[in-house]
Amino acid sequence: MKAIVLAGGTGTRLKPLTTIMNKHMLPVYNYPMIHYAIEKIAEAGIHDVLLVTGRSSAGLFVDYLGNGREFGVSITYLIQEEAGGIAQALELAKPYVKDDEKFVMLLGDNLVEKSLRPYVEDYNRQNEGAMVLLKQVPDPERYGVPVFGKDGKIVYIAEKPAKPESYYCVTGVYMYDGSVFDIIASIEPSARGELEITDVNNAYAAAGKLTYRVLEGWWTDAGTFDSLHEAAAFMRRKQLSSRRGGKGS
Ligand code: DAU
Repeated sequence: MKAIVLAGGTGTRLKPLTTIMNKHMLPVYNYPMIHYAIEKIAEAGIHDVLLVTGRSSAGLFVDYLGNGREFGVSITYLIQEEAGGIAQALELAKPYVKDDEKFVMLLGDNLVEKSLRPYVEDYNRQNEGAMVLLKQVPDPERYGVPVFGKDGKIVYIAEKPAKPESYYCVTGVYMYDGSVFDIIASIEPSARGELEITDVNNAYAAAGKLTYRVLEGWWTDAGTFDSLHEAAAFMRRKQLSSRRGGKGS
């Protein structure tokens, strides 16, 4: 199984920090953000990583991560020439994924406490379709928000809705089968000119092939000043606690 880690985009909400630095290279306590994403993939038992980033920052990732050996993974770098959306970044991975191959996509600004391994194992037991991981949040309007049917299945995901229908959001951990690339080829850019991952997920939902799990433990999307600060505070507590033998900070 492969993992596709996205580390492109413009990081608009973190300007001016991202005027000079790719978001995923910003410090989160004592490591650059991307460090945690690659660690999570290795922890999930995945060895092959496709890392997508923009042309101007690619050298930084190569300098920091190299071929991935220190993390126990093997990294292939893919360049997204312009930030055309999450689904457009994912499309770059098509030549590297076999038709029937399942894979994980992780947004590089998503920081997760617990191991992703149980979710990946669950998805591997699923015959076809996609799986997303959900989390309850106080501010769902910042995210993709699932709308549930009477049977508890996701019928639709609303992207950054003004009036969210639930307190759940779709996190940046997605699992797909090879049919995702046909779906991407069939969607149109949104009003903001991007190929939206939510449109991809909605195509799976419409076909009755989108499942979900609720992610356990702490999680954040570190794409704003406050969430970046919170992420650093969490990682500090976690690392101090493990240095003290897990007895809390
Ligand atoms: O964090 C979870 C949320 O991520 C979901 O709830 C939303 O449904 C999903 O659309 C996405 O929303 P964001 O507004 O947070 O996406 P953002 O533009 O910040 O990009 C997320 C990640 O994808 C980030 O690590 C950068 C990367 N990216 C993004 C774009 C638009 C790329 O690598 N290339 C791109 O073109």
